Amino acid sequence: MTLQPRPTAGDTSWFTHDRFGLFVHWGLYALPARHEWVQSFEKMDAQTYNRYFRHFDPDLYDPHAWAAAAADAGMKYFVVTTKHHEGFCLWDTKYTDFKAPNTPAGRDLLTPMVEAFREQGLRVGFYHSLLDWHHPDYTTDERHPMRDNAAFTAEDSRRDLQNYTQYLHNQTEELLTQFGPIDILWYDFSVAASDRYPGKGRDEWQSKKLLELVRSLQPQVIVNDRLQIPQDVRTPEQYQPRGWVKINGEPVVWEACQTFSGSWGYHRDEDSWKSLDMLVKMLIDTVSKGGNLLLNVGPTGRGEFDERALERLKGIGVWMKRHSRSIYGCTQAPGDVRAPQDCRYTYNPQTQRLYLHLFSWPFGAIHLDGMAERVEYAQLLNDASEIPIVRQEVEYQGDHGFMSEARSEDLLVLKLPTRPPDPTVPVIELFLKEGSF
Ligand code: GLC
Repeated sequence: MTLQPRPTAGDTSWFTHDRFGLFVHWGLYALPARHEWVQSFEKMDAQTYNRYFRHFDPDLYDPHAWAAAAADAGMKYFVVTTKHHEGFCLWDTKYTDFKAPNTPAGRDLLTPMVEAFREQGLRVGFYHSLLDWHHPDYTTDERHPMRDNAAFTAEDSRRDLQNYTQYLHNQTEELLTQFGPIDILWYDFSVAASDRYPGKGRDEWQSKKLLELVRSLQPQVIVNDRLQIPQDVRTPEQYQPRGWVKINGEPVVWEACQTFSGSWGYHRDEDSWKSLDMLVKMLIDTVSKGGNLLLNVGPTGRGEFDERALERLKGIGVWMKRHSRSIYGCTQAPGDVRAPQDCRYTYNPQTQRLYLHLFSWPFGAIHLDGMAERVEYAQLLNDASEIPIVRQEVEYQGDHGFMSEARSEDLLVLKLPTRPPDPTVPVIELFLKEGSF
């Protein structure tokens, strides 16, 4: 049988079906354009960083274009940074002046985004930073931009972190009451203690109380694991797990978050952009292990997705148009089924179809262990062209006689054309016989 995580408080039923979402990291850091952590990396004080606040003017911002790009790529939900560690808020919050309406943008940027994505049929998620390098009561920790500034840290005794925590709770309430039903709440993150500074985690955030507030306002919302009280989903970051993520031996709902390049915020000069091929494989690999993929775009300071991101999203969309059947509603293959070398299986338990993704196209045939009695029909997914199932004898008898090779009774052989079909990753759809699993 297929693995099935235990139910949690939030509603993950749509999530484990939809599998593919867009992460959006957008804030003032789009202007320096050299990583969303720039303030901390370069130890900038608030006054220096404020230049980005004064110049934030995304005149080309068109959330409909963003939503269309995500929908065309086959994404079914999005998660946007309402506030990142810099503390800047995209919406018209009443709890701070450090918000989009007070920049040259002059307006709430979040509401039109939420509306545009909903119009395209995508679910809505909010990433919200627990760290805050702008709030006056946020004390220094090892990640803080001012960690090496003695004058700043000397003031910590006068900072009341509880005020910040209240602010965090107040803003959560705004986010869960002013934007309709929210599908995902993605808190980030808890800071470890260092020799110099205490850490911040479940006690400092008052995670338990915060979660009670969240559940009282939107009981169904999916909450992630970074409040130090794990809820509905685990979120490995820039890392592809080797198998279904398990905690204490139990499979859990999980979502890999990945960047196109090495930065979450727009980074002009970062060059490690992943190829289309790698990205599609990443999506397949994730679903083959029962997970979701949240793929990130960092829009520019003018409010656009840059060409490198758009080009890849388009490519993913072309693949998804003909292959989304192997992604939506799919999960890890049942128990004893092992994919051949350079392949990944995904499985749709409803339709009982198994999808064989070939990361590398072999010559002539592919051998599937344990499948001899299970497959009723096989076809390429991109064009529904038949893939013949050949009997072992045929496979091994040619003009030059019988080739002897160790054979298992359980082996199924599929005959492949020499040339792979066009798509990035070819997929073979296997229709299973009733009761195969
Ligand atoms: C991190 C980083 C960050 C990014 C995030 C996404 O913890 O601090 O910049 O937003 O994770 O997973």
